[in-house]
Amino acid sequence: MGHDLDDYCAANQPRFVDELVELLRIPSVSAQPAHAADVRRNAEHIAAAAQAVGFTTAEVVETPGHPAVYAERIVDPALPTVLIYGHHDVQPVDPLDEWVSPPFEPQVRDGKLYARGAVDDKGQVFMHLKAVEAHLRTRGELPLNLRLIVEGEEEIGSVHFEQLVESLRDRLVADVAVVSDTGIFARGVPSLTVGLRGLCGVEVHVRGPSLDLHSGVFGGAVQNPVEALARMLASLKDPATGRVTVPGFYDEVVPPTDEERAAYASLPFSEDEFRATAGGITQTVGEEGWTVLERRWVRPTLEINGIWGGYQGEGSKTIIPAHAGAKISCRLVPAQKPQVIAERVAFALRAAAPPGVTVEVVVKQGGNPVVTPSDHPAVRAAARAMAAVFGKEPVVIREGGSIPPVEVFQRVLGMQSVLVGVGLPDDQIHAPNEKFDLDHYAMGVRVLARLWDEIAEGVHEQPATV
Ligand code: BES
Ligand code: MN
Ligand code: MN
Repeated sequence: MGHDLDDYCAANQPRFVDELVELLRIPSVSAQPAHAADVRRNAEHIAAAAQAVGFTTAEVVETPGHPAVYAERIVDPALPTVLIYGHHDVQPVDPLDEWVSPPFEPQVRDGKLYARGAVDDKGQVFMHLKAVEAHLRTRGELPLNLRLIVEGEEEIGSVHFEQLVESLRDRLVADVAVVSDTGIFARGVPSLTVGLRGLCGVEVHVRGPSLDLHSGVFGGAVQNPVEALARMLASLKDPATGRVTVPGFYDEVVPPTDEERAAYASLPFSEDEFRATAGGITQTVGEEGWTVLERRWVRPTLEINGIWGGYQGEGSKTIIPAHAGAKISCRLVPAQKPQVIAERVAFALRAAAPPGVTVEVVVKQGGNPVVTPSDHPAVRAAARAMAAVFGKEPVVIREGGSIPPVEVFQRVLGMQSVLVGVGLPDDQIHAPNEKFDLDHYAMGVRVLARLWDEIAEGVHEQPATV
């Protein structure tokens, strides 16, 4: 099964790369208003590409923010229906001077395609389009019904996605969602993801005097907002245990089972490789009592993402700055709620404020954590597809990153997701020199093409007894 598809993919791989390169030239940075027109152009490009491969409906769908793309090819209502989800927006590119080739001038070096969005997520969305093309060009029809939703706001928190799902509800109805926006555990270790962390964020502003003051004239008698912020931030974690000290932070956390912990412990994890992909750090840190994988997959965390205040220019400037600020985010695990955790962090920050400053905490929209079933027939179908292409049974993992729509599908539509992505830990997503290994791009197309066969046949399969 699937040789015809594999042959088609092999014969057309150079063109698959060329077409992806064209998409990667569009700077669809959702976070930056200056790129709004580019995000739209990107959506139009994907809708056209979907139409070209054989989706019968393919259109740009408006939201109050950036547009999404919806497409479908309904073969026969009696066949299984899959909803493909992906995102067409990308992260900002700075620091720009660290890119070897410019982020929106894709370049192949040593079998890897370098560009912003190469693997997160334009390349993986494109795998889906090419898998559909392979089916239709080799066989003339799909073995199941496909719907496709590609949003343009994932990298800014899927701000309007729940609203979009509500309004498109009838067109999104499917047996299962397939999401290719994750990676595999390591090169040569295919894997399926069954858990993603959630996210919440706050921005804190600390204000003191109404203007920057001379630090000699006023120093000693005036609270320094940068110092106040530093103390407040430092109070959020216990350096001895690595635990977050925010009252109630861990209250709702569902710990992993012993079986899960044993399974994670048996994965071929290399701490050396991890430190290398983590930018060459000399040692890992984290919450006492948990392994590196557990700290990243099943434990909640708090990070300071940015901090500002005072004089940053050349030379010295002897002032007490008027204000300081920071962006903080937390990764969440079941059954933590973004709003609740954000409020607790806000409370802890206010409580830690020293006298002489005012503190404002702005809570941002978050996303819920999610765990997806590992025994769903479509997950088993994905395991067979992966095993056929990678030549090895996939392992089951979680990821530390967040894809809020997966939880939205579960809660709003009662629909489970299969997380089948082919990125690698060293792809440098969100960082300079993001890349997609072209052999993984090719294997990804084959996995997805085969997945449609496996799902179409798997409907007759008995549930496994594991
Ligand atoms: N594709 C990533 C999420 C991801 C990364 C999953 C690595 C698994 C492994 C996604 O595009 C992403 O970056 N999500 C954001 C969500 C946030 C902006 C709400 C994230 O995790 O920071
Ligand atoms: Mn992504
Ligand atoms: Mn991302």
